[in-house]
Amino acid sequence: MLTFPDDFVWGAATSAYQIEGAWNEDGKGESIWDRFCHTPGRAAGGATGDIACDHYHRYTADVDMLAALGVKAYRFSLAWTRLFPDGGSQPNPAGFDFYRRLIAALRERGIMPMVTLYHWDLPQALQDKGGWTNRDTAYRFADYAARAFEQFGANVPLWATLNEPTLIAFAGHALGIKAPGTRRFWTVLTVVHHLLLAHGLAVEAFREVAPATAADLPDPGIGIVLSVRPTHPASDRPADIRAAQLMNHLTQDLYFEPLFRGRYPTDALAFFRRRLVRPKIQPGDLDHISRPIDFLGINVYTRGLVAANRFNPAFGVRQVAPSGPTTAMGWEIYPPCLFEVLQLAQTYTDLPLYITENGAAFADKTQTGGTIADQDRIDFLRSYLAEAHRAIAAGAKLKGYFVWSLLDNFEWDEGYEPRFGLIHVDFETLERTWKQSAHWYREVIARNGISETLLG
Ligand code: FCB
Repeated sequence: MLTFPDDFVWGAATSAYQIEGAWNEDGKGESIWDRFCHTPGRAAGGATGDIACDHYHRYTADVDMLAALGVKAYRFSLAWTRLFPDGGSQPNPAGFDFYRRLIAALRERGIMPMVTLYHWDLPQALQDKGGWTNRDTAYRFADYAARAFEQFGANVPLWATLNEPTLIAFAGHALGIKAPGTRRFWTVLTVVHHLLLAHGLAVEAFREVAPATAADLPDPGIGIVLSVRPTHPASDRPADIRAAQLMNHLTQDLYFEPLFRGRYPTDALAFFRRRLVRPKIQPGDLDHISRPIDFLGINVYTRGLVAANRFNPAFGVRQVAPSGPTTAMGWEIYPPCLFEVLQLAQTYTDLPLYITENGAAFADKTQTGGTIADQDRIDFLRSYLAEAHRAIAAGAKLKGYFVWSLLDNFEWDEGYEPRFGLIHVDFETLERTWKQSAHWYREVIARNGISETLLG
């Protein structure tokens, strides 16, 4: 039996654009994801989040499912454009009302809300003014965050500022595969810096508002969610090792160092400087960015494998296809990466850690009788959770684990094809059906660990 600590927080995660739908209802403004998906040729198959899982209208039933799973916490994000449609100071009361009802529904069922303030859906009106390349966006974010702390703080003990700044910067602004979909490599470092500044300013706003949580909830805390995909070299050739180091500088150190050490890593800066890219840092920015936080969230799915490639103009790096099994995303199933990222985090901080996302997409098979057999997802979760258990035994302060995702949902530029849910969603009828992995996870939570029978 792999038993977890008594107070271990078992959870499930989603994000607003991926599940809510109701993209233009009740006063919601347009976000960059609305714009991106409404532009032909962007998301696979012309998919959009216009309806998604229709969670906006079905949230009560979805919260009932969370309760039936027995989760202790639910991580979801606020759509900034529901609260402030144009990213300015004019609030939309119906948006506040929606999240108030959602949070109340969670609380009535004893589920602790963990709120992400920014899961990629910037107000389009702010994008029109430059988005994250514009320093002012960081201040707009802090204002919005302050209002959210005031309005929802009593019932939300865990706040995350940003989800995965590295994806926003590189996939959104250099590769152009995620919103806003620009391919301007020279803006990446400015985007990173403004995102981190936004985070820091929001942390300061949090301390200033100092929301007090209800008596039955833990004290409130704020953190950030980083995605960590440790990159390994495909061989022990020095050039391959350097290629892997570079990827780790750009995807890990570039965030960990400013957040926890108050400086940008010299190797990453040198890489950009050689390409004539310089961040626009103002005096005092790194003090904001490195303000103490209360926890660190880490999203982990896989590792990267790279080799040097001097013909690649951007990074001089080539991704190497994994030789082992992969998920439907083509991501290598590599459980030790979960242990590795927790070790890495501990080299920077001794804060409480949460795995804020972990899970897998598979082509689920529906059997006669309607059972959805997803043994591969069960195997995946079990093997990654075993690594979480190993990390705790080795001293990691891992306080909780959130499966990505509660529901099959809109997987960004990949559309509805990849299914990450514990719960299957029929995107024609929007009907929800429990997969076997959902039943399995409920048992894990009920036993607070993985017993012999659940070890499979
Ligand atoms: C993460 C995102 C999340 C989801 C998973 C599969 O990068 O944070 O929204 O798309 O990947």
